[in-house]
Amino acid sequence: MEKNFYITTPIYYVNASPHIGHAYTTIVADVLARYHRLRGYRTYFCTGTDEHGDKIAEAARKANMSPKAYADQVSAQFRALWPELAVTNDYFIRTTDDDHVETVRRILQKVYEAGDIYFGEYEGYYCVGCERFYMEKELQEGKCPDHQSEPEYRKESNYFFRMSKYQDWLIGYIKDHPDFIRPERYRNEALAFLREPLEDLCISRPKTRLIWGITLPFDDQYVTYVWFDALINYITAIGYPDGEKFRTFWPAAQHLIAKDILKPHGIYWPTMLKAAGIEPCRHLNVHGYWNVDQSKMSKTLGNVVKPLMLKDKYGLDAFRYFLLRDMVFGLDSSFSEEAFVQRINSDLANDLGNLVSRTLTMASKFCGGRVPPAGPPADEDRILRDLASRVVAEVEKNFEDLAFHKALIAVWELINALNRYIVESEPWVLAKNPDQKGRLNGVMHHLLEALRVVSVLIAPFMPGASERIMAQLGIEDGTVQDFDSIRRWGGLAEGNELKPAGALFPRVEYRKEEKAETPKEQAPPFKAEIDYADFEKVDLRVATVLEAEAVPKSNKLIKMKIDVGEERTIVAGIAKDYKPGELIGRKIAVVVNLKPTKLMGVESRGMLLATDTAEGLTVLSFDREPKPGANIR
Ligand code: ME8
Ligand code: MG
Repeated sequence: MEKNFYITTPIYYVNASPHIGHAYTTIVADVLARYHRLRGYRTYFCTGTDEHGDKIAEAARKANMSPKAYADQVSAQFRALWPELAVTNDYFIRTTDDDHVETVRRILQKVYEAGDIYFGEYEGYYCVGCERFYMEKELQEGKCPDHQSEPEYRKESNYFFRMSKYQDWLIGYIKDHPDFIRPERYRNEALAFLREPLEDLCISRPKTRLIWGITLPFDDQYVTYVWFDALINYITAIGYPDGEKFRTFWPAAQHLIAKDILKPHGIYWPTMLKAAGIEPCRHLNVHGYWNVDQSKMSKTLGNVVKPLMLKDKYGLDAFRYFLLRDMVFGLDSSFSEEAFVQRINSDLANDLGNLVSRTLTMASKFCGGRVPPAGPPADEDRILRDLASRVVAEVEKNFEDLAFHKALIAVWELINALNRYIVESEPWVLAKNPDQKGRLNGVMHHLLEALRVVSVLIAPFMPGASERIMAQLGIEDGTVQDFDSIRRWGGLAEGNELKPAGALFPRVEYRKEEKAETPKEQAPPFKAEIDYADFEKVDLRVATVLEAEAVPKSNKLIKMKIDVGEERTIVAGIAKDYKPGELIGRKIAVVVNLKPTKLMGVESRGMLLATDTAEGLTVLSFDREPKPGANIR
């Protein structure tokens, strides 16, 4: 089978700035494009802007600009946004591009000559927001279901596309190609539209009403109407009618849209293509709607979520991860900043971030900073390898099904297994016994190789984090890290120099923007003033936790071996809030010149700094990566 992949997003209207809904669709398209590249597909990815029509002309008039100047400005906002979100589209199309205008006129002429466009009179309810007529029964209490506004009643002479002629063909096509429209709920919805007689499609506007459009090739008093113009972008973008690009990519075309524009894509578009003698696309992939804190996003409600704000506040990889992890493709989802922050802290900072930093810290310390030899695998190593290859297969299967959240759940199954593998194999114990050197190397090798597998699996979702993990593993540019490379165990070269770096995902805190509802808790009273010289007597240092274990018979104390420029043991009362395994590899703050004390029979030579929170103690940590032994001032 030829390995080609063509993915499109809707071309977005330029009457509003991009929000989280546009970001979601475009990021999903990017995840798919990156995945297919990593699977060795020849890939083409296109997005763009939809610039003609009544409502754009109207928005331009309000902004006191010409439609073209207005469209230039908003289109540029979309175009500039995508690279900021690490979106790797190959092409950005505008419906005002000359070649697009020409393609639309060519298709119109072709369909006109075939006798499928005729002149007639029409009256009905028209929603400017949707740029289409509605049947009375499609309206909800007389209003457009998408825009909640009352449509205008319009009556005028226009050109019509004989869509009704293709109704039976389309029903047959959808039935014969069960995966044409997916997920299935939207295929059923399209078939439900088709249970009613299909009306012909009005495709023109008289120039007396609207001049911001493409002039019909067979009547210069009319321009074409939004959908006939917009949908054709998908073939203009790959050079229709000529060329290798069209022949390569059209049979592999997949459109990605939300449920709001199912009817134009599931009904108008295949019939338009049929009339023009072109095959329908391979898949129409339809996702649900993002709501915000349970309600519909709207300018009037003032709850429009801006993607750049979230990216700047929480980081791009975290934003992309959350969108793909939280929405079940096909269903609606409600965005909540609080849930987003929770995911960052649990899945990213805790599970993945700690795994990477613990592994790199231990490997640097125990294995001289290089990837050690694997040695003969133990039973637990074989179990780990089997799990990794099962997860790779599962991720591939989930991509086939557009089940992105399940793909991520599968990757996290591997991440969690790796965290358990560390706890169970206790490399810090092995490191104490020179006879166990071979086993220690084996464990560290398996961890590092598994991190390589993880970094490839997350690459479509979090390209930045993936690159940072690979850099820490000393993987050079130019070695191929694709899906084939992780189907086999052992792609990480022995002897690679490791380059431990700062925290992959710093923990974040959620702060409600509104006034806090609970009264501020009283802070404890301040102590008496001291001289700087007194403060200077306290020797505060950065320490790396090398080992951690519970103090026997104590439910509060954890004993840690730390590196503060020299190795020491400290004991801290944090067992209720931290598991020993969570601490290894972390950088903490320690008072190093307190007189030693004995706690439950163990001598502590230092005190770590921590503070209380509503959820328990939290150990002081750093945004950047300091050196162990560094002064804290
Ligand atoms: O319809 N949740 O453009 P548009 C998820 N120009 N996705 C959302 C969303 C939400 N709340 N809101 C918008 C048009 N989207 C036409 C398309 S294509 C030939 C012409 C996303 O600016 C989603 O992808 O109204 C939806 O289908 C699209 O933006 C609609 O964008
Ligand atoms: Mg819309």
